[in-house]
Amino acid sequence: MEAKPVSSGHTPKKVRTATLLAFKEQGRKISCLTSYDQQTAEIFDEAGIDVLLVGDSAADNVLGYASTLPITIEELIPFGRAVSTAAKRALVVIDMPFGSYEPGADAALANGIRLLKTSGAAAVKLEGGQRSVAQIKKLVEAGIPVMGHLGFTPQSVNSLGGFKVQGRGPAAQTLIEDALAVEAAGAFALVLEMVPAPLAAEISAQLKIPTIGIGAGSATDGQILVWTDFAGLSAFKPRTFVKQYANLRTTLLDAASTYRQEVAEGAFPAPQHSFDS
Ligand code: KIV
Repeated sequence: MEAKPVSSGHTPKKVRTATLLAFKEQGRKISCLTSYDQQTAEIFDEAGIDVLLVGDSAADNVLGYASTLPITIEELIPFGRAVSTAAKRALVVIDMPFGSYEPGADAALANGIRLLKTSGAAAVKLEGGQRSVAQIKKLVEAGIPVMGHLGFTPQSVNSLGGFKVQGRGPAAQTLIEDALAVEAAGAFALVLEMVPAPLAAEISAQLKIPTIGIGAGSATDGQILVWTDFAGLSAFKPRTFVKQYANLRTTLLDAASTYRQEVAEGAFPAPQHSFDS
């Protein structure tokens, strides 16, 4: 049976950071997807996805970079503007690219203001625990909602030694302390990426703010997937924690091959695709 979109013609109530907190308190799970453009943002918004993340994963999913590290604020802003304009209900969160907040709280504030002013997003996301506390505090004090990101943090892929599960063994305690520090600094939600499910469950139970998992089991308060993975558009094999809900790559490949063949044979355009004199 086809899932029914929540939209019914009227503009649905906007999701705000307080809405996510209320969802956690009500035990209602939060659905999140990345989006980098107008069309997917419209579709995901109509489907009732609660949060659209203009992720720095645009770097390796749209711009062809090998990792998230090279993407700049200038490159991310147009994606953010497209998603923010299209989303009528979902909360739009934009990533702070690598290098835009590490220098310190003042840099984070200047770049956070720029991102919100020019992209139209309602919140920013940044990576790191204790090391990012000063930046989170400064942004929150200035009225910029911040989503944290712990566990496997893609911007630190080089120092983490690749795509590895984080928080196993003694590292679990550090991760819990980082999560508490991010909450105490004022973040409204926390992404937990590639974290053992029992640890993610414990962090979710300890925090008042919602946790959003990706490869972190089912006990987090919400889930997020990179849309090109969940829709089967990526060329590479999805990682084990990704469920593929469609196979857009095969659909588009078939469509493009048929189109090429019909153009070659003169079957397209047919009379109904042509103008009369
Ligand atoms: O940029 C991104 O897509 C992300 C998700 C993996 C949470 O940060």
